[in-house]
Amino acid sequence: MSGRLAGKVAVITGGASGIGEGTARRFHAEGACVVIADVQEGPGAALAAELGDGALFRRTDVTREEDVAALVDTAVEVFGGLDVMFNNAGVMGALGPIDRTRLADADLTIAVDLRGVLCGMKHAARVMKPRRSGSIISTSSPAGVLGGVGPHVYSAVKAGIIGLSNSVAAELRRFGVRCNVIVPGAVVSPMTAELVAEGAADLAGAQTALSGTAYMDRPLRPADIAAGALYLASDDAALVTGTVLPVDAGMTGAGGPSPFATGRYEEPAGLLEAGRRTDAST
Ligand SMILES: NC(=O)c1ccc[n+]([C@@H]2O[C@H](COP(=O)([O-])OP(=O)(O)OC[C@H]3O[C@@H](n4cnc5c(N)ncnc54)[C@H](O)[C@@H]3O)[C@@H](O)[C@H]2O)c1
Repeated sequence: MSGRLAGKVAVITGGASGIGEGTARRFHAEGACVVIADVQEGPGAALAAELGDGALFRRTDVTREEDVAALVDTAVEVFGGLDVMFNNAGVMGALGPIDRTRLADADLTIAVDLRGVLCGMKHAARVMKPRRSGSIISTSSPAGVLGGVGPHVYSAVKAGIIGLSNSVAAELRRFGVRCNVIVPGAVVSPMTAELVAEGAADLAGAQTALSGTAYMDRPLRPADIAAGALYLASDDAALVTGTVLPVDAGMTGAGGPSPFATGRYEEPAGLLEAGRRTDAST
């Protein structure tokens, strides 16, 4: 098998949808064996079946350590190792003004978006340290760098991912293991379709809505983020660790309004989790 990831094994959390799905497709096309991990069994299993040899789906809830441990063990047992861990699963989580934030919603957001990433790093490191090689990539957000572009708790956890990744990079570099963060701008995906269009399935609506606020000639697509993740996963980035790679059409560096800021602090408080929205009033 040829390709920039030939012979490598990659685990991708949140791999059934959006950025994770796009990355699973690209990594597989570049010769990697991929383990697609997600709570969404139908789409995850369908993607693995479509990709065929060198791809499998494993149902994984990143808030459950036993799931993440078993996920990593599956990669090792089935494909012979673990070269790339992409901690990408995430939810928008707790919504609304700070004085109405429900702490149970905040706990769930932290559990998925930050503790889930920590758990992925822990179990990837368990395998990668003795092998003295590996690339850990985690998905943050412009909200982790800037105020006013996303919900409060989401902003906190996405900032936390950057601090965590840099800290882990400092420990793991002497073991040959790299640890980096990718910051996607506004990407057309089920998550953003839920925010700016008619629901998670309305990708055409999201494309239209995000085209109106795009900084360059089009909104970002999952494939754009996959290309950044591919670089960080590949041997081209052999000496790249402790970095944050924005793939955001300049949102964090050159500035600009966020399509997700409007109305995010308005009532009612609520929770946006994997396409399911609840309101505090219900
Ligand atoms: N789309 C954007 O504009 C954008 C921008 C910046 C950052 N991000 C981040 O990129 C990542 C992917 O987002 P996306 O746009 O592809 O969203 P998405 O909703 O399309 O995909 C996220 C996936 O994570 C899965 N997931 C949710 N909770 C999980 C859990 N507990 N365990 C395992 N899987 C779980 C979902 O089922 C879903 O398949 C997220 O971390 C998100 O915060 C997205």
